[in-house]
This record gives sequence, structure tokens and C-alpha cells, in this order.
Amino acid sequence: MAQLIDGKRISQEIKDELKEKVEKLKQEGKRICLAVIQVGEDPASCVYVRNKKKACAYIGIDSESYELPGNTSEEELLALIEKLNHAGHVKGILVQLPLPEHMDADKVIRAISPDKDVDGFHPVSVGRLWIGETGFLSCTPAGIIQLLKRSHISIEGKECVIVGRSNIVGKPMAALLLREHATVTVAHSHTRNLSEITRRADILIVAVGKRRFIGTDDVKDGAVVIDVGMHRDEENRLCGDVDFETVSQKASAITPVPGGVGPMTIAMLMNNCVETVYRESNGKPKDI
Ligand code: GUN
Repeated sequence: MAQLIDGKRISQEIKDELKEKVEKLKQEGKRICLAVIQVGEDPASCVYVRNKKKACAYIGIDSESYELPGNTSEEELLALIEKLNHAGHVKGILVQLPLPEHMDADKVIRAISPDKDVDGFHPVSVGRLWIGETGFLSCTPAGIIQLLKRSHISIEGKECVIVGRSNIVGKPMAALLLREHATVTVAHSHTRNLSEITRRADILIVAVGKRRFIGTDDVKDGAVVIDVGMHRDEENRLCGDVDFETVSQKASAITPVPGGVGPMTIAMLMNNCVETVYRESNGKPKDI
């Protein structure tokens, strides 16, 4: 049985470290406020937003909630973002995705000031990531790097294969692994002989959004397997993109679903919120 990479424990550790930092910042008179914008009432978004606000409260970050009706116009949303860009007390702005169909999500993301882009989705943050400058990191991939580091799994020189090329996970994951000196392959829906490629991986990261897509034949003996998926199985239990039961017999370490990658995303969002203050004072965030 593989070592379980415990995202619940590691995310708690990070949140406790951040809580301490925020207490110190408060003693210096520095407060952090995150503006959370939700448009409409997508049920999954409601859960994510509630959990983000709960994490803020735990760490000592103020949060301001903007719950807009689903028929809000794009102009109204852009006007709110513009107002928050100029609000001195607001250090981070988060627009929960997905947005309603009548809105252009790319345009909305670009409207957020790169200095307040705590999701790390703005093209300026993405560009900084790829050229190795410090910037806000996309939360899920940054969380995966922390999972590996805090589980004492070295990345340098490793053969890393990412399955999935989304802007939120696959692509920033590739940039972050390169930064850690890994050899990186990104596979996707057009990749030929996928299994041959995934079997080369020392570290396999799966973010395809398909239930139990990766099975035991797709994994090398002793590989580290990171599962970004989140689904319900036939019995309504949570499961990932990886067939945990069989793959965990072959891998050396694996993330469970739930309790693996999931909790890390919010912990890293909180880290980005705290970084806004370091950025303001010296232009450079601190690595955690
Ligand atoms: N929707 C699903 N995941 C995310 C995320 O990480 N950030 C935002 N803003 N919306 C999301």
C-alpha cells in the first residue's frame, strides 16, 4: 500500500502558519481583506465560496462578500471590480467561476488588478509564472507542489507527466514543475499512446475530469500519483480521476479523494492573500 499524501493535514499546517503570520501583521497594524464575488447560485460555487470565507475567518483575514443575482450585466460586474481595484482596504479580489453564460470570463479576469489577483488567473500572473518572476501562483498547482515538498518527495530531475492541459491546473502545473527542475510532459485528449507516456512518470498528476480514468496499467511501479479529480461514483461516494483501490497497490505515494489535493486549493488562496501584504511592503512575496 502506498504512502497516503494527507492534504487535510498539510493544508491545516499551512493555515496555522498563515494564522500566525496574520496575527503578527495585525500587531503591525496591517489587515488583509479579500473581496469574494459570486454571480448567480451555482450550488458547487456556493459551497466553495462558503469554505473560502470560513478559511478567511479562521486565519484572521477579513472577507467582503458580493453575491450578485444571475442576471447581473457584465458592465455592472466590471464596474464593481473597478471599484474594488481602487479600494485601499481590499487586498485581494476573487471572482468565483463559472460565470453565467452571458459573461466573458476572460474579460472579467483581465479586469482584476494583477496586484489583487489572488487566484493567479490574470495573464500578467500567468506570464510572470512562465518567465520565473514572482507573482501570484494558481492555487491548485501551487498546492500540489506543497503536498510533494511537505511529504519529502523530491521533484528535481524527476520525470513528471501531467494529464490535462487546462489553464487552471495542467498548464500552470507544468510551469511550476519546470521551476522545480523536473522534466515535464503534458498529455491531453489528443495524445497518442497515453498509457505508454503515463507509465514513464516518476510523478503522475491527473487532472482530466473523468472518473477513474487512470488505472493500474497506466502507472509505473513506485510512482507518486496526484489525483486532482473530484466526482461521485455509482454509490454516490466521492472519487477521483484515478482508480485509487488498484493504483494505491502499485504507487509509492498517492493522494486520496477526498482529503488530497482538494483542501490545498483554499490553503494556497489564503497564502496568496497574505502575500499581498508582503508585496505591498517590498514588492516581493515570501515563498512558503
Ligand atoms: N471555480 C472552481 N475553482 C475555482 C478557483 O480556484 N477559483 C475561482 N475563482 N473559481 C473557481
